[in-house]
Amino acid sequence: MAYDPVPGLLSRVSSRLWHEFASLPDGPAHAFPAPGTAPGSAERAPGETGRGPEFDAMAAVLERTAQRLGDNYPYFHPLYAGQMLKPPHPVARAAYALAMAINPNNHARDGGRASSQMEIEAVAEIARMFGWGDGRFLGHLTSSGTIANLEALWVAGEIQGSGISGQGSEEQRRKRIVGSEQAHYTHSRISAVLKLQYEPVRADSRGRMDLNALEAELRKGDVGTVVVTLGTTGIGAVDPLDQIVELRGGYGFRIHVDAAYGGYFKLIPEALEEDARRAYAAIAEADSIVVDPHKHGLQPYGCGCVLFRDPGVGRFYKHDSPYTYFTSKELHLGEISLECSRAGAAAVALWATQQLFPLQPGGEFARGLAQGRRAALELEQVLRADKRFETMRVGGPQLDIVVWKVRKDSAEEAGDAAQRIFSACAERNLHLALVQLPLHWFRLTQEAEGPATQTVTCLRSVLMKPEHETWMGRIWERYDEASRSVLGK
Ligand SMILES: Cc1ncc(COP(=O)(O)O)c(C=O)c1O
Repeated sequence: MAYDPVPGLLSRVSSRLWHEFASLPDGPAHAFPAPGTAPGSAERAPGETGRGPEFDAMAAVLERTAQRLGDNYPYFHPLYAGQMLKPPHPVARAAYALAMAINPNNHARDGGRASSQMEIEAVAEIARMFGWGDGRFLGHLTSSGTIANLEALWVAGEIQGSGISGQGSEEQRRKRIVGSEQAHYTHSRISAVLKLQYEPVRADSRGRMDLNALEAELRKGDVGTVVVTLGTTGIGAVDPLDQIVELRGGYGFRIHVDAAYGGYFKLIPEALEEDARRAYAAIAEADSIVVDPHKHGLQPYGCGCVLFRDPGVGRFYKHDSPYTYFTSKELHLGEISLECSRAGAAAVALWATQQLFPLQPGGEFARGLAQGRRAALELEQVLRADKRFETMRVGGPQLDIVVWKVRKDSAEEAGDAAQRIFSACAERNLHLALVQLPLHWFRLTQEAEGPATQTVTCLRSVLMKPEHETWMGRIWERYDEASRSVLGK
């Protein structure tokens, strides 16, 4: 059985938390620890052992809960190498659970005094990672990458007068948002919600925004915002941000960087290819950046982050609701966030994690990212040498996501074999993912230069966990055996 440090950590520190509230008279019994576990608790929780019929009833429900949770893929295990799922670090889980005893609401300091301050500190550290220091930015946590991107596009629309409020000149109102056809689908959906016009731009054979195609759009003169993805969802492609920044000099547009997945790779430029390294080096030039601590940042779900280079965009969030009573003059996060109630516990977990793993190049967290990256390069190399499979025609993984197709004459046969290998792997406790990708990424087709309409079902592995590096041998053994069972060779 795997050792889980979280229960031990919680029993060690929860008494410390209750001690902070020791001046209160006794409250409901279940809000207090068992006697003897908290300083001064003997007088505060008389006779409460924490056990009794109520405890047994909760335990019985939780036994059934644990059983129900067994119906999941083992996301925490290195043999889970499928979708973008990385276990939260124990320190994040423990900090989140500890905060749950208070359940702070980071809408305003009234609802979460300590956790609002922790959010401000944690977000400032993320901003520093991207090169935005000294409080010269505006940013906050969100419940997801989707909401973080929504806020960034909403601000872009408001600035260009083309948002829902529809103010601005006729020319401004026609401004479009464009992003690579490989950008997350959330951008086109969000734009529809915001009543902004969004259009995809062709991607090149490595899944990056094609600069010629982008410039053709820019020449039309009506592009207001370019969404640049650093780490696409499908294959971890890195759009050429540095060159897009150069284009901005000539055409003038906002740059929104969606680094929901790939943001933390800013910490390991030495592990990236030259093109990607140059793109990450330009990130501070963006107008807004999104990164998801709940993807690579070791956090439980419910933790996205949006940052703006110009703190002045705070004016768009202004409200004068009579419902929120601000008890201090300090910044309330509810004044710079579209979401009202937000989990203070998410900020507490992030803050604690960053205390243990500061976001520093060369630090332990950065080394963990580099391990996943090395695992991806190793898997790519083994696949490339194996005649049964085809890797991408041009280049290897840009971050830590590997995609490949089964070598078959037709896309249908390749897709069918990929499906069967995926299932044969799952029977062996190895969990991969499937993804639809343009066929011309793997073999030359007549479509190679045009929009990709012919796709093929491929296998995909997201190697996000540091342990993937040491487990690669075992992952390959199972994969090879599963492939033989399907392909007969
Ligand atoms: C690049 C990118 N942007 C945005 C999102 C959406 O983020 P969320 O799922 O946190 O809403 C994702 C999710 O995978 C993503 O990979």
